[in-house]
Amino acid sequence: MSTVYKIKEKKTLTEKKEVAKKFYIESYGCQMNFADSEVVASIVSKEGYNSTNDLNEADLILLNTCSIREKAELTVRKRLESFNKLKRKNKNLKVGVLGCMAERLKSKFLDEEKIVDLVVGPDAYKDIPNLLEEINEGRNAVNVILSKEETYGDISPVRLSSNGVTAFVSITRGCDNMCTFCVVPFTRGRERSRDPKSILNEIHDLNKANYKEITLLGQNVDSYLWYGGGLKKDFKNADEFVKKTSVNFSKLLKLVAESFPNLRIRFSTSNPQDMSLDVIKTMSLYNNICNYIHLPVQSGSDPILKSMNRQHTRDEYLSLIKNIKKLIPNCGISHDMITGFPNESDKDHEQTLSLMEKVKYDFGYMFKYSERPGTYAAKKFEDNVEESIKKIRLQQIIDLQRKHSHYRTKQYIGKVVEVLIEKESKKSTLHWAGRNEQNTMVVFPKESHKIGDFVKVKVLECTSATLIGISKGL
Ligand code: SAH
Ligand code: F3S
Repeated sequence: MSTVYKIKEKKTLTEKKEVAKKFYIESYGCQMNFADSEVVASIVSKEGYNSTNDLNEADLILLNTCSIREKAELTVRKRLESFNKLKRKNKNLKVGVLGCMAERLKSKFLDEEKIVDLVVGPDAYKDIPNLLEEINEGRNAVNVILSKEETYGDISPVRLSSNGVTAFVSITRGCDNMCTFCVVPFTRGRERSRDPKSILNEIHDLNKANYKEITLLGQNVDSYLWYGGGLKKDFKNADEFVKKTSVNFSKLLKLVAESFPNLRIRFSTSNPQDMSLDVIKTMSLYNNICNYIHLPVQSGSDPILKSMNRQHTRDEYLSLIKNIKKLIPNCGISHDMITGFPNESDKDHEQTLSLMEKVKYDFGYMFKYSERPGTYAAKKFEDNVEESIKKIRLQQIIDLQRKHSHYRTKQYIGKVVEVLIEKESKKSTLHWAGRNEQNTMVVFPKESHKIGDFVKVKVLECTSATLIGISKGL
């Protein structure tokens, strides 16, 4: 079998194939991957494939993969192994890997995992029609070329296993930040922003299809900047007219909030170094922008923040939090934290705990440091915090977060919150589940409400993660 790296002839995406085959797609990792899978679903559907949720009837299995930590990669490898049986049953079954692992491992993937036929990086999805042709003719195919322009703005995503209520809309791709621990700049390439017109068009379609909430997505949404396309660093050289008519993130938020007053608007992820006062002010001015910010900090210690190449100090981060709380007193705030980064001492760890104590986040995502090949940290620092210490520290921050989450959820008891109903509660068929604007899960009896309704719920009790209430009589 030969491997195809480059494609000679581009095909149009709309060209239809005769036989209706079926594809199955599974996504791992961040929200961006889930959004990308919807772009891929759109491209593959135009090739005459129908989507299926049943692995057994699939002709094509696609895994949209994540490289952020070693564990994420191991999960994907295990999953691939489980497809061997299916491939023995169906000789025509093809398996493709997409996303960050595809980009990181490139054609090595084909050698390491014999089951894989197709490897496609995050910027090469438009080449999938050609690549499918190659694999259907019995050759393996790889395209992992990164792009400085691709934003998939011209593709209407096919909403996969959607609740019909909430949807992701990507606004930037890639990341230029080069945090020393992070593989994303290598797997997703340079940061680019998507044309605001295509963003508004996509939201318009969602609104028409009766969606009620959209989340604007990017690795670093605050860094969004549209001035006709191109890399952000080239903006400096643009002329005055271009500068004046450019759209930054706070302008984009305003545009979306004003164009769709009935939609709930969220965004993720914010980066402390780029989040401007303008964005916070815009949030405070528009009721339909949810008062919730995911603001990863990674560590509470200045020396560690510096060796992570985070472009802010502990104090700068805390004053940003202060500004947020001043302008939006009821703002929900969550974090990402990495524990056991190289050279992290007990004192550094204490600093992390004390920062958490100061902020008392509503919730957070906490991870043990995982060395990623090719990153600055992997090249320059020894992964020298013992696994047993990483484990203890992680447990301490998780326990502290649980305490803070409970402190936050208790503040809602007796209050009325607005909930968008998304699904049935996992624990009871008699209850609905949805989130309040601060992104906290709320559960309450169904009564005559339905999925997609906005409901005022009076909070009666809570756990550290969930508010429990009633809507009756309100
Ligand atoms: N800005 C991005 C961050 C992506 S990575 C976003 O959109 O969320 C998500 C989180 O994974 C990071 O904030 C960080 O806390 C964690 N992470 C990244 N690299 C890691 C590594 N090498 N080891 C452990 N955690 C990591
Ligand atoms: Fe990664 Fe830092 Fe960008 S965490 S995604 S390099 S902001």
